[in-house]
Amino acid sequence: MKNKYPGKFITLEGTEGAGKSTNLKFIESWLAEQGIDVVVTREPGGTPISEAVREILLDKRYGEMTPETELLLMFAARNQHLQEKIIPALEAGKWVVSDRFTDASYAYQGAARGLPYGRILEIEQWVQQGFFPNLTFVFDLSIEEGMKRVKARGEADRFEEEQQDFFEKVRSAYLNRAKQAPQRYEVIDAGQPLVRVQEQVEQKLKQLCLAAGKKVVA
Ligand code: TMP
Repeated sequence: MKNKYPGKFITLEGTEGAGKSTNLKFIESWLAEQGIDVVVTREPGGTPISEAVREILLDKRYGEMTPETELLLMFAARNQHLQEKIIPALEAGKWVVSDRFTDASYAYQGAARGLPYGRILEIEQWVQQGFFPNLTFVFDLSIEEGMKRVKARGEADRFEEEQQDFFEKVRSAYLNRAKQAPQRYEVIDAGQPLVRVQEQVEQKLKQLCLAAGKKVVA
């Protein structure tokens, strides 16, 4: 079971500073122009409980948090997000676009923090019951370039304080996951000029619309 609901579920992934936020806005307005009812959300977060869990997860005062706790909190937030917001919206025929989802748990808690893949898979199966995004964009950018962009944004959170090798692991994990299931992922070179990036995003969105039986307005 991938997504049995009438709405489609799109997720955005990438290392810090790869341009998810800018592209999220572009995707939201492009889909809205097609007459699609869009819900934009994020992980960890998206509901009051999940946003409260996000605050704990990103808080630099909790340096003692173990990788296991981090993973369980990510999935606790995700479970609430799925049941309270994502699934009801998809059932109602809305399309949901989320800034991050479970691929991030494999990349950050799995590849970068070193938790076993099988553990994450177990929790994913329990929480998601076979539910997956229809399409996942991976915005790929060199870690150096991404860090420059993040620094320009201001103060770092608990994750952004990690070192380069941590993010290199995250980046490779995303690329590996995309290679293993190319039908679900679209890897985008986020170092290109924004217009090129958006052309590629739009192309992929068009395909998804057509596959969903929607007419595409130019
Ligand atoms: P953001 O900066 O994209 O809003 O995401 C918050 C941080 O949470 C980011 O550094 C990635 C991290 N994260 C995980 O480590 N695992 C997860 O499952 C998710 C959804 C996010």
